[in-house]
Amino acid sequence: MLLTGIRLDQYRNLAAAELRPSNQITLLHGLNGQGKTNLLEAIYLLGTGRSFRNVKTPDLIRQGMDTAVVTGQVLTGGVASEIKVQLAGKQRRVTVDGKPVQRAAELHGKLAAVVFSPDDTAMVKQGPETRRRYLDRALYTGKATFLRDYHEYYRTLKQRNALLRCGTSDGLDVWSEQLVTSGTRLMEHRRQYVAQLLPLVQQHYQRLAGSRETVELAYAPDSDHRFQEQLEQCRVTDLRRGTTGRGPHRDDLAFMIDGHDLKTFGSQGQQRSFVLALKLAELDHLQQTFGEPPLMLLDDIASELDRERIHNLLDFLRQRQVQVVITTTTTVGIDPGMLQQSSLYRVDAGTLTYEGSVPR
Ligand SMILES: Nc1ncnc2c1ncn2[C@@H]1O[C@H](COP(=O)(O)OP(=O)(O)OP(=O)(O)O)[C@@H](O)[C@H]1O
Ligand SMILES: [Mg+2]
Repeated sequence: MLLTGIRLDQYRNLAAAELRPSNQITLLHGLNGQGKTNLLEAIYLLGTGRSFRNVKTPDLIRQGMDTAVVTGQVLTGGVASEIKVQLAGKQRRVTVDGKPVQRAAELHGKLAAVVFSPDDTAMVKQGPETRRRYLDRALYTGKATFLRDYHEYYRTLKQRNALLRCGTSDGLDVWSEQLVTSGTRLMEHRRQYVAQLLPLVQQHYQRLAGSRETVELAYAPDSDHRFQEQLEQCRVTDLRRGTTGRGPHRDDLAFMIDGHDLKTFGSQGQQRSFVLALKLAELDHLQQTFGEPPLMLLDDIASELDRERIHNLLDFLRQRQVQVVITTTTTVGIDPGMLQQSSLYRVDAGTLTYEGSVPR
């Protein structure tokens, strides 16, 4: 998958910006708060119709404006198409080659992207919700049917909770039954995905860290095949609290290093390597799914990795023919030789300036 061009209009602080990314590496550099991450976010938006940051659609529109538009030219399996995402208030309208996209599945696989950002590293330390969100986002990128099952479960959960809040058990069984059906499907998606990812994460970690420690990634579901039984058991507490206490909405992902919890046992560097390995595993998985590599968006790379690690990562991505877009506040930590054939852009108060290839 390739992004050959992108244009942003009134997207966050980017009033009007155009970018022609290199097939290999595009480097966006600039001071803090200039719009670098916003640009990566817009690229991701083209592929999924959503932001990778946990924000609402109106936040993506430039302040004081009613609409924002992101248009991108992509090459998928050698076929060119144009994706357009229009944002107006809470509304999103996506077209591919001028034709409205009705279902998420129609956009699916045109421009998949994997993001590695400082927020991702924080996922190790944060609560289960962040990891669950990550897992579901990754699943969604690779599997169009996932979204339907995901929404089905959360819709049912909302209905069941609404009923519980009324304190009535009339009709509760119907919702519980539906929750079990959709919840079982959701758990199955997550279980399968994590199982596929595990050996890939281990391979990448080994290569990145070059060390003997072994890492593990495990699905930590709140519930299991006894979900129905568990729901019945907490029926009384659920009614009292007015919310559903058990189910996949409480699932977690476990990250382990040599059998210990990565959060408390792993060093900062080990935690970073783990998350990067997880992201590269996601990349492998998407490549297997779509038959070509997705894009890799590396946000604020120099704050996450040292010079040598950046070099190794970019080398690896180049060998895999992955199109990469990097943001950084400084080009200092980045090996100029490595970036000879890459495109360099400066981001300054929401404007983009092409600076050719990286000076040596
Ligand atoms: N809806 C919006 N309208 C206008 N400006 C916005 C909007 N949303 C965010 N911004 C502005 O965008 C800027 C942040 O952009 P971004 O996060 O891309 O910065 P950055 O270049 O990645 O900085 P850093 O190096 O600190 O990560 C902020 O100055 C913020 O005020
Ligand atoms: Mg940023």
